[in-house]
Amino acid sequence: MRTINAFYLGYNLIGEGPYSKEIRDAENAIKDLQKSINEKIGVKEVDTGLAPPNLWDLQADKATLNNSHPLQVARISKIIDDGDEEKGPKYVIKVKNIAKFVVLLSENASATDFEEGMRVAVDRNKMQIQIPLPPKIDPSVTMMQVEEKPDITYENVGGCKEQIEKLREVVELPLLDPTRYTSLGIDPPKGVLMYGPPGTGKTLCARAVANRTDATFIRVIGSELVQKYVGEGARMIRELFQMARTKKACIIFFDEVDAFGGARVDDGAGGDNEVQRTMLELITQLDGFDPRGNIKVLMATNRPDTLDPALMRPGRLDRKIEFSLPDLEGRSQILKIHARGMSVARNIRYDLIARLCPNSTGAELRSVCTEAGMFAIRARRKVATEEDFLKAVKKVIKDYSKFSSTPKYMNYN
Ligand SMILES: Nc1ncnc2c1ncn2[C@@H]1O[C@H](COP(=O)(O)OP(=O)(O)OP(=O)(O)O)[C@@H](O)[C@H]1O
Ligand SMILES: [Mg+2]
Repeated sequence: MRTINAFYLGYNLIGEGPYSKEIRDAENAIKDLQKSINEKIGVKEVDTGLAPPNLWDLQADKATLNNSHPLQVARISKIIDDGDEEKGPKYVIKVKNIAKFVVLLSENASATDFEEGMRVAVDRNKMQIQIPLPPKIDPSVTMMQVEEKPDITYENVGGCKEQIEKLREVVELPLLDPTRYTSLGIDPPKGVLMYGPPGTGKTLCARAVANRTDATFIRVIGSELVQKYVGEGARMIRELFQMARTKKACIIFFDEVDAFGGARVDDGAGGDNEVQRTMLELITQLDGFDPRGNIKVLMATNRPDTLDPALMRPGRLDRKIEFSLPDLEGRSQILKIHARGMSVARNIRYDLIARLCPNSTGAELRSVCTEAGMFAIRARRKVATEEDFLKAVKKVIKDYSKFSSTPKYMNYN
């Protein structure tokens, strides 16, 4: 180590020119001088980051402010290419509520970025086109995009192995490995319908999918699309797909589709109703007259029998996944998942408790866990014991059986 240091030291000494030392001294002297000058005129580091007033250049600031006007939004209605090499094509733009203008591009915009029908920003003086703008999308549609990933993973879903497997096959594989489908010459399935009794984990699985993929996840609740004015719902669907197409990959999840996907019936009034029009728009969007890109559609409902057959035909929603009641193993898994976050006694036989809850849904099992906790609180204990669970089973499964949705659901299918 010492030899290496010595080597570098020697090298430096060899590398130095005849005046190196003098130059270094002079530089240091200049630095010191600068420092003392700054101290004299009172330049200091201040919290606000403002320079002292004697350094302000108000004239220059005003000039830059004048140059950067806010731009105005306009729409290109026509592009006139008159072969003028020098100036480029002319653009007919329409500024809403004002007038139409024929303008040129500004020098820092490129002609390849602009098409007819696009929204653009123009400056106020010469009305020259400055920048392209994204299409206008209803704010209520943009709000549907899920920005924060939900914290549910496949780990939090008990049972439902087959269902998750089928979901992943449709949603994740084509996004991750599209060549597998193209080499075989088939189109990957476009959409999935998830159906089953209430509380069996349909929404839960969709949230787990959203957590897993890097694709944009858009979540729509069926009733959001039922609007007051005629044509609004259909427009929202159109804008939804328009927004989805701008993304690299996108999953759209319609929860509770029965809100607008009901079968078309003749109501005798001779009119077609607004809700049906929304569904028909969805059908055309699913057919993909426009290239659809990487858009996958998931839908969830617990009344598949009421949905319109046109919505569910293959090619639109190819896959139908039934979420049925969990089996014994699934039930004990669900109990364990929900007891994981609780402080419980160690020797609880979840299998036994699962056996005591035949024909119950995930939501009911979750309620069993919560009630067990409530019993423990009532008895002023810090941990829930097996006895609490047994009491909770009696309360939730036996006493509430008249509220259970499963027998009714069994009739629909
Ligand atoms: N398989 C499961 N594993 C773990 N928890 C479950 C499972 N199924 C349901 N749950 C619990 O039940 C709750 C309700 O489930 P979820 O919201 O998925 O029901 P759903 O199938 O969407 O019902 P609905 O048709 O009424 O909307 C979940 O928040 C979860 O706590
Ligand atoms: Mg749901």
